[in-house]
Amino acid sequence: MIELKINFSNSSMNSEEKEISKIYRIHKYWSRKPWKPISESIKKYSKEEDLVVDLFLGSGVTCLESVYLNRNFVGYDLNPMAIFISNNTIQNHFKENIFIEELEEIKNKLGSFFKELYSADEECNICHKKLTIDHINMGPKFKNKEEGVFYCLDCGKNTKKRRELNKKEKISLRKEHKISKWTPSKKIPSKFYKDRFSYKGVKNITDFYTSRNLLALSELLYIIKTSKFKYEDLFLIAFSNTLLHASKLKSENVRPLSVNNYWIPDDYMEENVFLRFLERTDLVLESKKNLQKRFNEIKNIGDYELMNKSSFKTRFKDGEVDYIITDPPYGDAIQYSELSLIWNSWFNKEFEIKEEVIINPVQNKGVTEYLGLLENSIKEASRILKDKGKFTLCFHNKDFSIWEGILSIFKKYTFVLENIDIIDTLGNSYNNNWSKFSPKSDIYLTFTKKDFNTDSYYKKILLENLIKKEIKKSQDISKIYDSLTSTLIWEIYYNEHKLDLSKLTIKKLNELILKIKDGNRQ
Ligand SMILES: C[S@@+](CC[C@H](N)C(=O)[O-])C[C@H]1O[C@@H](n2cnc3c(N)ncnc32)[C@H](O)[C@@H]1O
Ligand SMILES: [Zn+2]
Repeated sequence: MIELKINFSNSSMNSEEKEISKIYRIHKYWSRKPWKPISESIKKYSKEEDLVVDLFLGSGVTCLESVYLNRNFVGYDLNPMAIFISNNTIQNHFKENIFIEELEEIKNKLGSFFKELYSADEECNICHKKLTIDHINMGPKFKNKEEGVFYCLDCGKNTKKRRELNKKEKISLRKEHKISKWTPSKKIPSKFYKDRFSYKGVKNITDFYTSRNLLALSELLYIIKTSKFKYEDLFLIAFSNTLLHASKLKSENVRPLSVNNYWIPDDYMEENVFLRFLERTDLVLESKKNLQKRFNEIKNIGDYELMNKSSFKTRFKDGEVDYIITDPPYGDAIQYSELSLIWNSWFNKEFEIKEEVIINPVQNKGVTEYLGLLENSIKEASRILKDKGKFTLCFHNKDFSIWEGILSIFKKYTFVLENIDIIDTLGNSYNNNWSKFSPKSDIYLTFTKKDFNTDSYYKKILLENLIKKEIKKSQDISKIYDSLTSTLIWEIYYNEHKLDLSKLTIKKLNELILKIKDGNRQ
């Protein structure tokens, strides 16, 4: 009989490891995995010069960690932006002085234009130059009493001065600028699954911006693309990382798309495009310096190739791949194609959604369709993975029927579940706050591809008995939940017909635990 193996670990990092994390701050991506547990899995389940594959690449964490550990790597993602971010994160030929020189050229070409565009109608009381607008709070909540935050670019003093705009500044805020350079012509689909902006008159990508910011972005993009820079792509990365912040999807209290949902807050703001862009070039620089430091210490690194394609069909021969590690979309939680639309539009790129593995009613994809789509990739994985090869799946879902569906797919393609790693990502999983019912840890399941027969494994356990057992072991409710989840995953996988979990949700599970806990006390 196969024994359940659960490992608890946390992703807390020492100061050197925190520096490494800065490599990945080069550009935002949705649900990026912390690099350390990924690196540990690659070390544990593959060896140097092996071929490692990720079927749902995202922002390239598995790629960089594989290459660093001298594994060769191939990654697939449907999102053009995922490939662009990954390539630019991994790229390690970098000369700081050239990057700085080219950045100076951007400042020379655009500095005075931007200073004029975002100038306040007020002088600095120290150096007597014009103050610059850092940002303006302007949504409906600030109607006719828009509030500016200013500071002095020249002497650096006068930081964060805040006051209502004067008449002249209000006029320039409302001015419709003539825009001569390219801007995206893309329309927003008539319906998004996760939007809350339709009532605000947004039809085109350009409607997410004030006229001034649209002008600023178009001029900036033009200069980046026409100056023949060696680091054009890195400046484009800083540019696209500015796009959401420069839009109306942001306020002083709301980070853009932070709720994984298109939402224009009532107190949305107009950011200074150039200042925000310069901050993001700092992130690029920091990322590249840390990458170089890390890669300078090692002799051999692996090769990699990133494919902007669906992973339903890969280019590998049967059994050619040594190890697969992947983190597919978790049901309907994060809408990758919807959330990436602004980025892709500014680069004139298309996310082909037909094969996007997702639950999204607007795309007519429910649970069944989602599992059906995912099955294509898992089936392909079982074809390309060598016999006895390992497959690590990072996954989480609040809904146990989804777990059930996922595990039955893995079973169908003869992946044997052998290990569960629970990685505490926030130090304190669940914050002991059950009201939110949102798991804060990552679960890594590792399977081995081989022939096996589930009937040989049998255990008659009722859910109640399982919970009682866990409660005896620990008083800490988040520990109970984690280890219960793992046990349930195990049971679903090996014992699917003995235990009916199809209607079990995290909420019901919680109620059950509390009920049984109370019962124990009486
Ligand atoms: C959970 S994300 C991966 C995040 C990644 N772990 C990271 O650290 O950034 C899942 C990715 O799967 C991609 N995707 C969805 N359907 C796909 C398909 N059929 N083939 C390849 N990639 C797909 C999405 O574009 C998204 O980037
Ligand atoms: Zn000054």
